[in-house]
Amino acid sequence: MRKKLFLQTFGCQMNERDSEAVEGLMLDDGFEKTAVIEEADVILYNTCSVRDHAEQKIFGRMGRFRRLKEANPRLIVGILGCMAQEHGAKFFKKNPDIDLVCGTGNLSQVAGLVREISESRSARLSTDKRLATDKIDDAYGLEDVRYRSNALKALVTIMKGCDHRCTYCIVPMTRGREISRNSESILREIKDLEGRGFKEVMLLGQNVNSYGKGLEEPIDFAGLLEKIQAYAPKIERLRFITSHPKDAHARLFQVMRDLPMVCEHLHLPVQSGSDRILRRMKREHIRSWYLGQIEEYRRLMPEGALTTDIIVGFPGETEADFLETMSLIEKARFDSAFIFQYSERPGTPAVKLKDDIPETEKHRRHQAALLLQRAISLEINQALIGKTVEVFFETESKKDRSRFVGRTRGYKRVVAFSETDCIGAFRLVRITGAADETLLGEIVQ
Ligand code: 5AD
Ligand code: SF4
Repeated sequence: MRKKLFLQTFGCQMNERDSEAVEGLMLDDGFEKTAVIEEADVILYNTCSVRDHAEQKIFGRMGRFRRLKEANPRLIVGILGCMAQEHGAKFFKKNPDIDLVCGTGNLSQVAGLVREISESRSARLSTDKRLATDKIDDAYGLEDVRYRSNALKALVTIMKGCDHRCTYCIVPMTRGREISRNSESILREIKDLEGRGFKEVMLLGQNVNSYGKGLEEPIDFAGLLEKIQAYAPKIERLRFITSHPKDAHARLFQVMRDLPMVCEHLHLPVQSGSDRILRRMKREHIRSWYLGQIEEYRRLMPEGALTTDIIVGFPGETEADFLETMSLIEKARFDSAFIFQYSERPGTPAVKLKDDIPETEKHRRHQAALLLQRAISLEINQALIGKTVEVFFETESKKDRSRFVGRTRGYKRVVAFSETDCIGAFRLVRITGAADETLLGEIVQ
């Protein structure tokens, strides 16, 4: 009987892709997947450190390990990813039921480590044999894994790590320095995906716009997009996240406009609308630069969607600073925004600034910003009513199997009725209704 793997992922798309690759390696090693944790022979959590809330979710799960191990003494429990990188061997002290701690740069070793741990069970390996966090600054390491758990769209990592030093952000500590993958390896992977019938590719990196830095070949991110278009033209939709405003230039917007496969969507985190706070965040851009760049984006791509990330309640944020963020939200008119309350991360430079905004005040600002953004998203979406857009259908609704859910090129979620299965199909849809996060439509063709 095959051994069973329970693998759960927290956090961003890069974690999703890492987990998929780990899953592929585990399946190669003879495992099969299970969604029932009680059945598992191996439990792996791929974790996220970006905010305290994400970490608390994992710490909350750890209490179950004891009971699960009592039921299955051969069970192996592993913590992977960002929290593993951040806390390392401390996990073993915190919870003796944890067998394996594997950081972001060591994930290609997971299957081998699990094998070693299960073979030497009785001898009990010393903790240093069960800890793997030393490869944080090495090349990606999972680029050759072909396994895909979704047959329609594929996540492709093109660079990892970050050389910026935004003061709130733990990512440089959990993902290390910036390393670009060479374009040949990326093109090979995307060509392979094209041959296997994938229609959508999302390129991943903490900072995709600085792609190419440090590579011997002279290439930048826009150049990479051009190569993908030329080499794998049957990919219909190409997306990318995340971009830093500092390196998002007109050349990128032009390439986005000119290449048919590149979707008309830019995710450009602004974080704050106040120059004083942006300086304290060490964001390396100011409000006017950001507004100027998005004006340029819209000049070149009038139909292009724009989304962002915002933090409220950063240390020292006054009411006036917050109102600057509110006015930026109004000016920029984002299609949507992820808005977060500041969460102090141990070891980040912002710890030196006092986390001085009371929780209730952070909450108030968060609610006010969300409300404003929702109203704008709704207005923008309502303006689409009556228009016909291309939708790539990815899933059916769980509640009603004749309702299908897909996305526009601008990454807006669309729900439409269809009597025939349209998963994996591109359809023209006339928009008939709009909420702030979802559009309703009728398939016309
Ligand atoms: N507190 C709150 N939000 C954060 N982000 C990153 N670090 C923190 C933090 N310490 C947000 C930023 C980033 C997104 C991925 O998470 O907005 O763009
Ligand atoms: Fe974090 Fe800033 Fe790097 Fe983004 S650019 S990953 S916010 S340090």
